[in-house]
Order: sequence, then C-alpha cells, then structure tokens
Amino acid sequence: MIALASDHAGYALKKELEEHLRSKGYETKDFGTYSEESCDYAVYGSRAARAVAKGECEKAVLVCGTGIGMSLAANKVRGIRCVVCSEPFSAKLSRNHNDSNVLALGSRVVGSELAKMILDIWLESEFEGGRHQRRIDLVADIENGKEL
Ligand code: RB5
Repeated sequence: MIALASDHAGYALKKELEEHLRSKGYETKDFGTYSEESCDYAVYGSRAARAVAKGECEKAVLVCGTGIGMSLAANKVRGIRCVVCSEPFSAKLSRNHNDSNVLALGSRVVGSELAKMILDIWLESEFEGGRHQRRIDLVADIENGKEL
C-alpha cells in the first residue's frame, strides 16, 4: 500500500500520480487533503508518514508546491527517511544508498511526466544495504539523541 498526501498546491499532481500508480497495479491510500482549498502541508504529510512508520503503508508519496514543506514534516516522524527529488538520479540513489521510505515532490518544480518518471524509478529501486546500512543507522542515532 502506497500512502499519498498533499496540500492544496500538490492536490492535482497527487491525483494524477494516484491514477498512475493504480494503473500500474499499486494500491494507494490518500491521507488528504481532498480539495484545492488552502491548507497546511504538515497535517497531511505527517498522517501519511505516520502510516509508513507504523507499517500500515509500505511507502509514501507527498506533494506540495516545492516538496520541501512535506519533507520537513515527514522527517519529523521517527523512522522516516523522506527525500525531495526533482530528477530520477537522486530518486534512485535515495533508495539504493539511503533507503528512503517517503518521496516528496514539488508540483511547482516538476511537470507531471517528470514526476511519474521520478516516482517509477524510486519505486523500482532497491536499498543496497552493506555500508549504507551503517550510515542510515547513524542517522537514526541522531534521531535518538545520540551525539556522533
Ligand atoms: C503553499 O503555498 C506552499 O508553501 C507549499 O505547498 C509548499 O511548497 C511548502 O513547502
């Protein structure tokens, strides 16, 4: 199950990505917002991120104007590694090296075709583990208050 969330600025792109994902056979759950009425990204981004952290959803895709607000909100949830991507290379490497579990996209930054390309490569790419596991464990230590 892929969690989806957006604010008003990301609503249209989120719905397009939802349709794209469903056409490829993914199940999705939309955590809001449900219209283009102005709202606050932290509300919806945190709901989708928490669903991932709790294991209810495998990954999440968050959309706001830039992707930045959504990523800030999502990364406050313990266990979340959210990345903002505007090109496929970073999306791929964020899976291979950083085991990203949430993708944030900016509807005012990327067009819908590029967003779909980024999303596809992000979903298809796997975490490589090994030395990268040690590094993401260190990042988790920061979250737990450990001084490195
Ligand atoms: C909304 O205008 C905009 O600030 C929001 O979508 C997002 O880009 C914030 O990071």
